[in-house]
Amino acid sequence: MTSGTVSLFSLLCLLLPSLAQEQVQFNQVLNLNGDMDLNSFVFPDRSKIETFSQSQQQLIVNQQTPAVPANQVTGSTGQPFVALMQQSMSVNTNGATDLVGGQIELIMDQQMLQQNAVNPDNTYVGQLSPDRQSWMIIEPMRSVNITDTTVRIQKMNSIDGEYIALGRQTVETNNVLVPFKDQSVVIQGTGLQENEFVDGLRVSTRATQPMSFTVDVKDGVEQGMLTQLQGQQPINDFRYTVTSNLAGVQPDLSRMAAVMQIPLNVQRVQQMMQAQGAQSGQIQIGVAQRAVLGNPGGATGQLQAIGQTAPQRRARDQYRRMLLERQVAPATGQITGQTAGQTTGQTTDQTQNGGTPTSNNPVATELLLEPTFTPIQANAVFDPNNMRVAIPVTQIDGEFILTMSMGGAAAPPEQQAQGEQQPAASNGTTPAEAGEVPEAAASSAPEAPKAAERRQEAESQKGYVALSVDEINRMAETQKWGGMPPVTRMMEEYAKDMGVTLQSI
Ligand SMILES: *[C@@H]1O[C@H](CO)[C@@H](O)[C@H](O)[C@H]1NC(C)=O
Ligand SMILES: *[C@@H]1O[C@H](CO)[C@@H](O)[C@H](O)[C@H]1NC(C)=O
Repeated sequence: MTSGTVSLFSLLCLLLPSLAQEQVQFNQVLNLNGDMDLNSFVFPDRSKIETFSQSQQQLIVNQQTPAVPANQVTGSTGQPFVALMQQSMSVNTNGATDLVGGQIELIMDQQMLQQNAVNPDNTYVGQLSPDRQSWMIIEPMRSVNITDTTVRIQKMNSIDGEYIALGRQTVETNNVLVPFKDQSVVIQGTGLQENEFVDGLRVSTRATQPMSFTVDVKDGVEQGMLTQLQGQQPINDFRYTVTSNLAGVQPDLSRMAAVMQIPLNVQRVQQMMQAQGAQSGQIQIGVAQRAVLGNPGGATGQLQAIGQTAPQRRARDQYRRMLLERQVAPATGQITGQTAGQTTGQTTDQTQNGGTPTSNNPVATELLLEPTFTPIQANAVFDPNNMRVAIPVTQIDGEFILTMSMGGAAAPPEQQAQGEQQPAASNGTTPAEAGEVPEAAASSAPEAPKAAERRQEAESQKGYVALSVDEINRMAETQKWGGMPPVTRMMEEYAKDMGVTLQSI
């Protein structure tokens, strides 16, 4: 930059005080005006914070060593990620939550961009997650200016947090989706990786060792696979089949944690609701898995760390337990075998019932799975923005389906297994209690709060997300309009109400 342009710039700043851009320092207490005039602060590294505010606030901004590495990222498709700043930016207000149009603009390091071969179209602001474990990318709030190599997070109501410029090292820009079937996803064994598949299935994985997996979709869900579902029914007519190189074995050497984020087809849920005549009330949505059967011997022997025998024993125990369960409930096994047809289920039964597992191959091309789906008992979260049901799993190998049931919560399997008389009623009262409601309430007051507690538990049943019939209908309608308000229809309807024709506008 020549001195000429510099002085021209200063002159412009003098002539245009309405821009009110303030050159400020890091670690300096700054005032945010509360009268909805733009606050605009430029820091020594040229990074910038701008916001309107509904109340007077104070702001202090610092540079610091990033709290977590740049490979801990959620919220984008594709990977890997690298940092495009040496230091992160930490922003603190006195708890301002009423900002308007808050935005943080970070300067990307040109050299880091080039060295890491990052396409500037693939740059993001990462915001540190509330648990300080990962950088969150929020794609709809992002803006990139390639000319001045800045990247922004925008539209914020509160700006407190830590921020870093990130680059994604992919050839593709925007969505990077993994095809089903053959393409293997490689998990590096450091960091948090998210892979999104072509239908929006997203698998968030953290592993201590490198690993790989594929996801396939298999046609149909056999009735015999559904006997453990406690009144839930599958939403789709296909299963996701996840096959990793660990083949369902978890040696101590290679630990992993994952969150499956499964897309919910609300149109399909709506049709199922309508078929059951549901006009109101709640539906419970859960995730069920056919896990991998413990492989007695073979695989574990080759995968475990030296001197560690525990995994092998665990697998054997699991296998014995499974055989015992089969003997206790032979009817179930038979039904499965008969109805499973050409599926893995039958293959499994034949192999296992023969008593001599034939394959000791650790990387089985087709894993031996439990005959039936079991609801995953973990905290499920519904992501309304992406219409996905997220649930943590300890084991990604196996098959997954989304399930639903109308009305109250599904009875948790533990209760059924123990043969308790507790019905699946959403109000949490047994029929006996229900008949004596006034008396019970009068005679034993402590009973009432207990019932209320139980009711609350039922509504947010572990392993399920509760959505109202109204919410499903609303989401189905919104989806038809691309997730946005039906703008043209609204105009049309409004014009009709006002007695004008749209052609005249
Ligand atoms: C992008 O950068 C160019 C060059 O610095 C600048 O003129 C332009 O105003 C920037 N765009 C926005 C939206 O800030
Ligand atoms: C609670 O559920 C039971 C069993 O479904 C039912 O008979 C009873 O009427 C319900 N009580 C209330 C207060 O809703």
